[in-house]
Amino acid sequence: MAHVPSNIILLLFLLVSFHVDVIAEEDEAKIIKPGSSLYAGKQPSSWASPSGNFEFGFYRQGEGYAAGIWLVGRPENTIVWTAKRDDPPVSSNATLFTTRGVLLLRTEDGVENVIGNQSGVDSASLLDTRNLVLYENRSVVWESFDIPTDTILGGQNLRNDSVLISSVSSSNHATGHYYLLLKSDIGLVANLNISSAAAYQYWVFPNGFSYSLNLSESGVLALYSSLNFGQENIVLAST
Ligand SMILES: *[C@@H]1O[C@H](CO)[C@@H](O)[C@H](O)[C@H]1NC(C)=O
Ligand SMILES: *[C@@H]1O[C@H](CO)[C@@H](O)[C@H](O)[C@H]1NC(C)=O
Ligand SMILES: *[C@@H]1O[C@H](CO)[C@@H](O)[C@H](O)[C@H]1NC(C)=O
Ligand SMILES: *[C@@H]1O[C@H](CO)[C@@H](O)[C@H](O)[C@H]1NC(C)=O
Ligand SMILES: *[C@@H]1O[C@H](CO)[C@@H](O)[C@H](O)[C@H]1NC(C)=O
Ligand SMILES: *[C@@H]1O[C@H](CO)[C@@H](O)[C@H](O)[C@H]1NC(C)=O
Repeated sequence: MAHVPSNIILLLFLLVSFHVDVIAEEDEAKIIKPGSSLYAGKQPSSWASPSGNFEFGFYRQGEGYAAGIWLVGRPENTIVWTAKRDDPPVSSNATLFTTRGVLLLRTEDGVENVIGNQSGVDSASLLDTRNLVLYENRSVVWESFDIPTDTILGGQNLRNDSVLISSVSSSNHATGHYYLLLKSDIGLVANLNISSAAAYQYWVFPNGFSYSLNLSESGVLALYSSLNFGQENIVLAST
């Protein structure tokens, strides 16, 4: 197996953090009501966060479209999350919609794929933290932050058994070969997973108890060795 330098991790996973005012985020959040729809091939094709800097909806992938969250950029948007990333791209006739309790993606063949579902959901929002949330009585009951793809965002944390998996390429956001896992008993583990053979573990840090990997809103990444999030329990930190 080829030697893979440990610092490749920094290249594989996007760490995205921007200074965004999230004060009174709850009040400013745009509430998406049940019955709202998005269309791959016509408007509206996305819902914007309150600042307008982030959107959730359909983006172009391959010959069709995928559903996800992106940072609005000029000229290129940066995809930070993809729903059902390994499903084939959908056609311009696909829709995303909320009905009572469920966020669904319906393909042109009428197949409905559940993106988020919790009984009792009554509304949804894309927050300025780039977290897509479903609410019940204004409490968050489902969030895209809990199911990261290849990107950890400011304000997002990886807990025990969480995993970031690289994308196939910058234009194909399906599951790639590089895995970064947080294992409470060993810490961060990077694997190269090719085919169905056992994954090749090429980096481990710190080889000791690790509780949570947190990326703050201000862009500091810290690995904590304990449930107590004090400075003394930081085992790895970016500056
Ligand atoms: C989209 O729907 C229209 C009307 O039903 C149909 O004519 C068209 O072929 C569909 N396009 C695709 C790509 O499925
Ligand atoms: C959503 O979840 C509820 C239970 O939590 C279940 O009864 C319902 O069938 C689910 N709906 C879909 C579309 O999966
Ligand atoms: C939402 O309100 C309903 C009715 O008051 C209650 O039964 C339910 O438990 C509440 N859900 C949450 C998550 O608070
Ligand atoms: C770090 O993330 C954990 C969840 O894994 C969270 O409970 C905790 O409050 C976060 N701590 C800090 C300092 O952000
Ligand atoms: C982490 O997850 C593993 C596997 O699910 C479990 O055995 C272990 O007890 C968990 N550790 C903590 C601290 O929750
Ligand atoms: C590695 O990839 C294979 C499919 O190619 C998958 O079945 C397996 O679960 C993956 N291994 C890990 C550790 O995720």
